Amino acid sequence: KVPTARYESFSDRAMAEAYLTDQPCPIVLKADGLAAGKGVVVAENLEQAQSALQFIFSDLESDRVVIEQFLPGREASLIVATDGTRVVPMVSSHDYKRLGNGQVGPNTGGMGTVSPSNHITPAQESWAIDNVIHPVLKEMQRRGTPFRGFLYAGLMISDDGAINVIEFNSRMGDPECQSLMRRYEGDLGELLFALSGVAPLPKLSWSAASAVCVVLAAEGYPENPVNGDEIFGMELASSIPGVAIFHAGTTLAAGKLTTAGGRVLNVTATGSDLTEARTRAYRAADMLQFRGVQFRRDIGT
Ligand code: GLY
Repeated sequence: KVPTARYESFSDRAMAEAYLTDQPCPIVLKADGLAAGKGVVVAENLEQAQSALQFIFSDLESDRVVIEQFLPGREASLIVATDGTRVVPMVSSHDYKRLGNGQVGPNTGGMGTVSPSNHITPAQESWAIDNVIHPVLKEMQRRGTPFRGFLYAGLMISDDGAINVIEFNSRMGDPECQSLMRRYEGDLGELLFALSGVAPLPKLSWSAASAVCVVLAAEGYPENPVNGDEIFGMELASSIPGVAIFHAGTTLAAGKLTTAGGRVLNVTATGSDLTEARTRAYRAADMLQFRGVQFRRDIGT
């Protein structure tokens, strides 16, 4: 009874196509299986929905599609650490999934994050822990497959406050993890050890700072990222107070740092508030250069 959008799933492409003709748009299509961040399409019209089906069944070679009602609202990432029964929530965060400023363009693995998030209130978070996280953990235990680790529920919160799950991840979230780790003040090793069930979960301590992560992606991301371009400006960008840069898709080729993935660098910054963190992150992002670099300008606005 975890709240989600209304959905149907199909392994027969013709049946999926027939179902689509009666559905209002926008509509969401999700491929079953790993898809490197390309498995979710928000189709604005029937034509886009049909070509998404083609993409999912033919290009991704998925054998199942979930077709789901589009839910407008604000997204928040509810991430908890759990040993299977006990639950310790991480501080709030949200990510920006579309490629372009103002939430336009194709869905990606995530173009940036902020923490804390103003998309979810403490009361909504506690509702979601009771109505999403605990029921899932309980059911997984009942099935003999208890879950330990970081459970991530992607929530869509509508203007009237309704909360639905749009995805689960069994990880801390990428790029949520990068913003969260900039605020985490505990011993990560101790937390990970406790998650294996051998020690009590520690109380998590967090800095009061705000954190922002801006993802620098390669040209052509997410469809066809181009790799092999030299990256400039790392030293200068890293010297900005509060900034730390995580490597996501980079490699050293003949001693030169070069792009080697869709999402290349995660530029994070902390600050006393969101504005300071944003300003620092974008100062650093502007100093980093490689051919065709793409990043959103509106993370944290
Ligand atoms: N940012 C969502 C994820 O980790 O997939």
